[in-house]
Amino acid sequence: MVRRVGVLVGSPRKASLNRKMALAMAALQPASLALEIIEIARLPLYNQDLDDADSAPPEWVSFRETLSGVDAVLFVTPEHNRSVPAPLKNAIDVGSRPYGKSAWNGKPGAIVSVSPGALGAFGANHHLRQSLVFLNVPCLQQPEAYIGGATKLFDSDGKLINDTTRDLLSGFLTAFAGWIEATRLKSGS
Ligand code: FNR
Repeated sequence: MVRRVGVLVGSPRKASLNRKMALAMAALQPASLALEIIEIARLPLYNQDLDDADSAPPEWVSFRETLSGVDAVLFVTPEHNRSVPAPLKNAIDVGSRPYGKSAWNGKPGAIVSVSPGALGAFGANHHLRQSLVFLNVPCLQQPEAYIGGATKLFDSDGKLINDTTRDLLSGFLTAFAGWIEATRLKSGS
């Protein structure tokens, strides 16, 4: 069975290294996974008043529906000030509401964090894990993927040119495919 994986990229930047990494992962996906980017940059900021008044913006409604339809979620994110970038945190909040109807609940997840710096956005990776615990997104533990020095990993067309990173991502996706099956089996889905 092919599992649909929603990919959330934490940066809205046109030349985003994280988007390049997400696309590189889509090119490396095993036959059992189908990665699709779920766009988050244009989601209006979360405000509970709108849910309370049953007047959620169409962008929230469509995001929640898309998220509900995937089998698993993959986060590919930079770090902003040692934490999760605001667009991604907003998407997490939008997907988690209305209360009791979280679209995240039970979906297996995985995180790849990417930075031009040496630490590979470790802080964002682990702050994100904290939210995923609360949202009941069982998250792949190993291998971890903190990808630093990311400006050197792509050519001018955005193609991944580093063999070590390619091998790491391939192994990561294989492990994630196994994790999705194991998690789904446990939950009977
Ligand atoms: C950054 N950047 C950054 N990098 C990092 O490794 N740790 C950090 O805490 C921060 N903080 C931070 C805050 C803000 C507001 C910005 C705009 C940037 C740098 C960041 O990693 C870099 O811009 C990446 O290239 C962003 O990812 P994309 O857009 O290339 O995917």
